[in-house]
Parts: sequence; C-alpha cells; structure tokens
Amino acid sequence: MKGMIVQLSRSLSRTTPVLCRGVHSGTRPASTAASKMRNNRSLTPEEIYAREDKYGAHNYHPLPVALERGQGIYVWDVEGNRYYDFLSAYSAVNQGHCHPKIIAALNAQASKLHLTSRAFYNNVLGAYEEYITSLFGYDKVLPMNTGVEGGETACKLARKWAYNVKGVPKNKAKIIFANGNFWGRTLAAISSSTDPSSYEGFGPYMPGFELIPYNDIPALEKALQDPNVAAYMVEPIQGEAGVVVPDKGYLTKVRELCTKHNVLWIADEVQTGLGRTGRWLAVDHEEVHPDVVVLGKALSGGVYPISAVLCDDEVMLTIKPGEHGSTYGGNPLACQVAIAALQVIEDEKLIDNAQKMGELLRAELKKLPKDIVTTVRGKGLLNALVIRETKDYDAWKVCLRLRDNGLLAKPTHGDIIRLAPPLIIKEHELQECIDIIQRTIMSF
Ligand SMILES: Cc1ncc(COP(=O)(O)O)c(C=O)c1O
Repeated sequence: MKGMIVQLSRSLSRTTPVLCRGVHSGTRPASTAASKMRNNRSLTPEEIYAREDKYGAHNYHPLPVALERGQGIYVWDVEGNRYYDFLSAYSAVNQGHCHPKIIAALNAQASKLHLTSRAFYNNVLGAYEEYITSLFGYDKVLPMNTGVEGGETACKLARKWAYNVKGVPKNKAKIIFANGNFWGRTLAAISSSTDPSSYEGFGPYMPGFELIPYNDIPALEKALQDPNVAAYMVEPIQGEAGVVVPDKGYLTKVRELCTKHNVLWIADEVQTGLGRTGRWLAVDHEEVHPDVVVLGKALSGGVYPISAVLCDDEVMLTIKPGEHGSTYGGNPLACQVAIAALQVIEDEKLIDNAQKMGELLRAELKKLPKDIVTTVRGKGLLNALVIRETKDYDAWKVCLRLRDNGLLAKPTHGDIIRLAPPLIIKEHELQECIDIIQRTIMSF
C-alpha cells in the first residue's frame, strides 16, 4: 500500500507540476533525516542548538543546555552533567521527572487502549471524572488537552451560561481579565493579553474581552456594574507575569463581588494549581470556591498534555452534544495518567512539602544582598527573584551562571527569575540549591 502511494505520487509528479515540491520533499529527504536522527547521540550541545535553530521555528529563546534525561528533581544534559530543575517545565513536572507510578500508568494503558475519541464510551473516563470532581468539589469536569484549551473552554462556557441562564442579549456577553494575565497563545488568549510580544501583529482580536488592573477591587466592582458581564477570569497568582501575588483578601473579595453581580468567577489554576503553591488550589489559601476552575500542566505530571475545566451543572450543562469537544480530550490514556498524577500528589503529601520547602526557600533567599536581588516573592514552591539589572549582570546572565553551577532556571520579563522546583524536593536537596543560588548571586 505504501509503495502504491509512492508510485502514484511519482507518476503525479511527472504530469502535475504543481504537486512536484510536495511529492519530492515528502519522500526523498526522509531517509537522510532518519540517518541523521540515528546519529543523534553523538551531537555536541552546540550542534543540537544549531539543528533546532536551522529546522525549527524561532518562537522560543531557550537557555543553552541540551537535555537528554530526567529523574525526580534532576535533569542531565547530553554530556552527562546533572542539574537541579528549578523550572519544572513551567510547573508541569510537580511530581518530578519520570515519576515511576505515572510512567507505569502510562505504559499499562498505552498498550491496552489509548484513544477512542468521544464517539464511544470507555471504561476509564468515568472513573477519572468521578475522582477529580469529588477531589475538587464540583459537579462535573470537561476534559481537554492543553492549558489554553482549558481557558478557551471556560470562556465558551461563560458565554453560553450568560445567554442561556443569566439572560445577556445575543452576542453581547463580556469577559473581564486582569492586566498581566497569561493563559496561552491562541487568538482568544492573546486577545486578552497586555504583553505586546504576545499580541502585536496578530490582530484583529476577539471582541467582548475587557481588561482591568490586577489586585484592584474598586476596578473590578466598577467593571461588574455592566449587566452583560458573564465572567471574571483571573489567575490567583499571576505566574508568567513574574509570580505576582495579590493582597491577602483579594480572592475573597473577588468571590463576594462575582456572587453579588451574578458573574462567574473563573480561576485559571493551570500554573498555580495541584500543590504548586502549598495548597491543592491557590484559591484554597483564602478558602474560596470559584464557579469555574481551569487545570492543566501538572494534571499529568508533565507526562502528557491534559487539561480540565471543573464547574457545577448550572454552567456545565449549558453546552450540549456537538457544541464543544476535542479528539483527544478525555482519552483513556490521559485519564489513567491524570488519576496517577493526582494520586501521587495525595500519597506523597506534596502539598505539605511545597508549603514547608517554600517557606524555607524564601526565608533563605531574603538574606541575599538587596542591591542585586531586590525582591523575593511567592507562595509554596512558586517563587520569583527580582534582579536589579546593571551593565554587568541581568536575569539572563544570572541564569547562565546558575546553569554553570548545576541549577536550571529561566528568566522572564528581563529581570525576574522563577524558582519552581518539583514538589518532591527534600530539605537537604533544597539546602544544596539555596547554596548554589547564594554562591551564584555572590559571584556577581
Ligand atoms: C496560568 C496559565 N494558564 C494557561 C496556560 C497555558 O497552558 P498551555 O501552555 O498548556 O496551553 C499557562 C501556561 O503557562 C498558564 O501559566
């Protein structure tokens, strides 16, 4: 069959010039590429950077380190150097790299049944749905894949609810976001962005989105006067903005105001959720319950793209069959991985550990010289250092030297370094990392 396609392509390429390029690029270079891939092991880090640079889109600016293996809190580069991972893939790898229980769940389900689509029932989805909804106290869950799809789903639910339940006139629903928000890279997500590098050059933007300052209750109260507001979507701590923690009481006030104005509160817990801040959800620090919660990242321990939207029937059942979905969302493989990933957080008491280790980390980092590290902030193991930029150093240079000293972290917004190791880190390991950070900062 494969041969037949190649033959057909070849004869088409002779008679149909328009197809020539596609036909040739689809067949001939494949073997060269395959042989190059087989030689992958012998590439130096510099060759690895150059290859990605040549063949890949330039939509990221990675720190120069070429990784090939991960286990627990460590990753190793192709030359065998070991590093502490202080990014945890932007908080996806909360349970540590290659957690044996999550990998075992993946392997067992992968060889049994991985994808059925939602055209049929499967024997795992319901078990996952029952587990996650009772864990977080919501009637229902809608499974998706990436964090941004979770946010998109939450916005769609809010609009449907606004029209079907709240009575907002057709196409008039508004969703309010906070300045500095980040929920991904789709056109909807960048339409609410205040970061020009996210939105510039990608217009026109999604209508019906409005922005208010973060951590500003009077601004929220004013915005909610509009009867067409469907939802306020907000991160309980703004991760990508540089770990911006709102004032104590902010989330409680958000809950009160959304209830008062009959507006849904959507908490984007894609980065802050699942133990990262020392609670199951960051909203638990104020013991408040959003109408809609979006989860992602660590929902799979970083093993597989899995996201979820949780809410009660009044909101969830506004979407009917055929009105929303995803080929991969809720597949049996993802469901088993998510069950295992959540169980690891519970069984290994990662939430308590994140709380304790976070306190230790911040207490030690606050001793760093203020003329270099101007601020240390965070909750649990979601933390940031703000570096005062000079002509001799900036956050990027600090990260390069951290790397040389065996710890990987990534700068954001030029002057902020996020410190977010896997939640399984032990006290003596954290102490070693604190030493590395102190030594690195003092070397400037
Ligand atoms: C708070 C928040 N929401 C959503 C997303 C998007 O997740 P994904 O990259 O999986 O689409 C991110 C990613 O960093 C995030 O931090």
